[in-house]
Amino acid sequence: MNILPTQVDLPFAASAAAIAIEAGNLVRGFYETGVATEYKGEADLVTEADRASERLIVERLHTRFPNHGVFGEEGSRRQMDSDYRWYIDPIDGTTNFAHRYPVFCVSLGLERRPPGLAADHDGEIVAGVIYDPTRNELFVAEKGKGAYLNGRRIRVSSTATLDESLLATGFPSRKRHENPNVHFYQEITMRSHGVRRAGSAALDLAYTACGRFDGYWEFNLNPWDVAAGFLLVTEAGGTVTYIDGSPFQLTSKEVLATNGLIYTELAELFEDMFAGRNISRVITPRQFVSRRAAEDVAP
Ligand code: IPD
Ligand code: CA
Ligand code: CA
Repeated sequence: MNILPTQVDLPFAASAAAIAIEAGNLVRGFYETGVATEYKGEADLVTEADRASERLIVERLHTRFPNHGVFGEEGSRRQMDSDYRWYIDPIDGTTNFAHRYPVFCVSLGLERRPPGLAADHDGEIVAGVIYDPTRNELFVAEKGKGAYLNGRRIRVSSTATLDESLLATGFPSRKRHENPNVHFYQEITMRSHGVRRAGSAALDLAYTACGRFDGYWEFNLNPWDVAAGFLLVTEAGGTVTYIDGSPFQLTSKEVLATNGLIYTELAELFEDMFAGRNISRVITPRQFVSRRAAEDVAP
């Protein structure tokens, strides 16, 4: 099966797709044989497969696009003053991969940076590719040309309200620290069909692009997590912003992606919750136990 779209010319995404598929197959090989896990931080895992995948991607990109820059999660930095820069996540979902939970992918996003652009300013994301090697699912997008899953055009869902939505979020693996997301997780779970926490930000965005999720949010992300997924969602007709609704930037860290239809409802809910409104109390385990004991003795 040709899993690239044939109806449209995608000069960047088609090359990146071939590279992502090759890297994904390499990662799947490691997954099948098993690899040792190392720690980059307290709970931040890395494996030989992450490094091998990044090496392969960087080599192939260099052969195909010798003048392009690269910025990879596992440390690759090359030609950072180039007009084009690839953001590489060689395995998004490393914790899943290391525990043999089959939800991970390879993610490649391309930024065009016009000459003279200040180092701390974003260019435009012009291509994005996400490949899931366990499902053989290839998501591709190019700016102005739409988003595709295994060659078929994809669009965000048509779910109009939060209470009919299925959403996704994540919690950072990079560094453990106090984070309010459990409150948002609880609140949005109670107001929707549910919130999934599957462990791959790139797939969460790809699934929002193809309508499996109606929205996704997360804090503490990095450009390699979101570059490709940003373009998939926007080319599929959705919105991607900072959590407060301001324009998305690669360095935003926080991201709120939606099908567009539930954007206002979700953005207002976040605004309320950040202001301390609309947050229901999360009972402690101790309160739960004493309530249960009281119910047990009640006639
Ligand atoms: C992680 C995944 C996860 C998200 C973390 C990311 P990694 O990326 O995308 O879903 O919750 O914030 O760091 O470390 O597996 O590439
Ligand atoms: Ca990642
Ligand atoms: Ca990674």
